[in-house]
Amino acid sequence: METELLSPDEAGLQKAAELIRTGQVVGMPTETVYGLAADATNSGAVEKVFAAKGRPMDNPLIVHISSMQELGQVARQVPEPVQALAEAFWPGPLTMIMPKADRIPPETSGGLDTVGVRMPAHPVAQELIRRSGVPIAAPSANRSGYPSPTTAQHVLADMQGRIPAILDGGTCSCGLESTVVAFDDDETVRILRPGFVTKEMMMEHVPRVVIDPAIFREVSAGERVASPGMKYKHYAPNAAVTLVEGPAELFRQFLALQQAEGVYALIFDADAEQFPYPHMTYGGTSIEQGRQLFARLRELDQIGAKTVYVRMPQKDGVGLAVYNRLIRAAGFDIVHLAPRI
Ligand code: TXA
Ligand code: MG
Repeated sequence: METELLSPDEAGLQKAAELIRTGQVVGMPTETVYGLAADATNSGAVEKVFAAKGRPMDNPLIVHISSMQELGQVARQVPEPVQALAEAFWPGPLTMIMPKADRIPPETSGGLDTVGVRMPAHPVAQELIRRSGVPIAAPSANRSGYPSPTTAQHVLADMQGRIPAILDGGTCSCGLESTVVAFDDDETVRILRPGFVTKEMMMEHVPRVVIDPAIFREVSAGERVASPGMKYKHYAPNAAVTLVEGPAELFRQFLALQQAEGVYALIFDADAEQFPYPHMTYGGTSIEQGRQLFARLRELDQIGAKTVYVRMPQKDGVGLAVYNRLIRAAGFDIVHLAPRI
């Protein structure tokens, strides 16, 4: 199969919607990352998504809607905090997990009785959902385990020959996947995956927000977790990634000792001027880092990096999302540098 790049114009959208309606898989831009879109109500279509990605079948897909009316078609019951969070953050990078309606087959939900629902903000995603006339299941459009795609070219690199078409909606503005939340009770929102919608932002709209501790640690394959995605290797380029915590000067001294063929540093913009070793930068603020991280990891593979030492991002606000992706990309290989005393 040849994979066609479609412009998000009348003809491209028409073609993509037709593919979705006939049970095919289409690369879809969203404001977070590109997704592999399929009719969420069609188990055969959803199986093609799992096959194209090489994704374990027990890892559920997020279902994307374009209006609040569609929420009732995908959810059996809507937890109390959903209304307030939807008003504040939809359309946008927030996925909320709720009891699933029968219309969503077990293939989509990875066999769970719940479904993660998101209303994306990207106009091309919204238009594709509207024209398809069905809720759209879409995981990130990367090969399973690899960094998520933030351009149509990234999707093509991973999915060439595996899907019929990709809608090109430009570069994703967030660059990291949506915040995923579940509801412990009517009062408590639990963050299962941090993203651009932060704990602090949600606290302004709901009584209680907790961060699931599994966000910070390695989860073993047999362990029971709130979100199946936590179990799997994620976001990792082919190069070996090590996350390095410590001030800029110590980082530079550490890199001096690591110099060898294929060793690169991934540092902040502000560090770059005086940095004498092979490197790339990934922004300054947490928002810039979120936007650039996955693209940089892919570029590092392309230039032949074998080992990448990444300067530790901030861990608060949106930085928590950057940190969460990086500790997994690094397989929890973290070095702490401390000055000699
Ligand atoms: O920004 C995003 O969320 C992107 C775009 C395409 O919308 N999608 C995305 O999907 O990142 P994916 O499949 O790569 O990540 C979804 C995560 C997985 O870790 C999955 O385990 C979790 O959400 N998830 C989905 N449905 C769930 C459910 N019912 N219960 C628990 N976790 C769920
Ligand atoms: Mg993913």
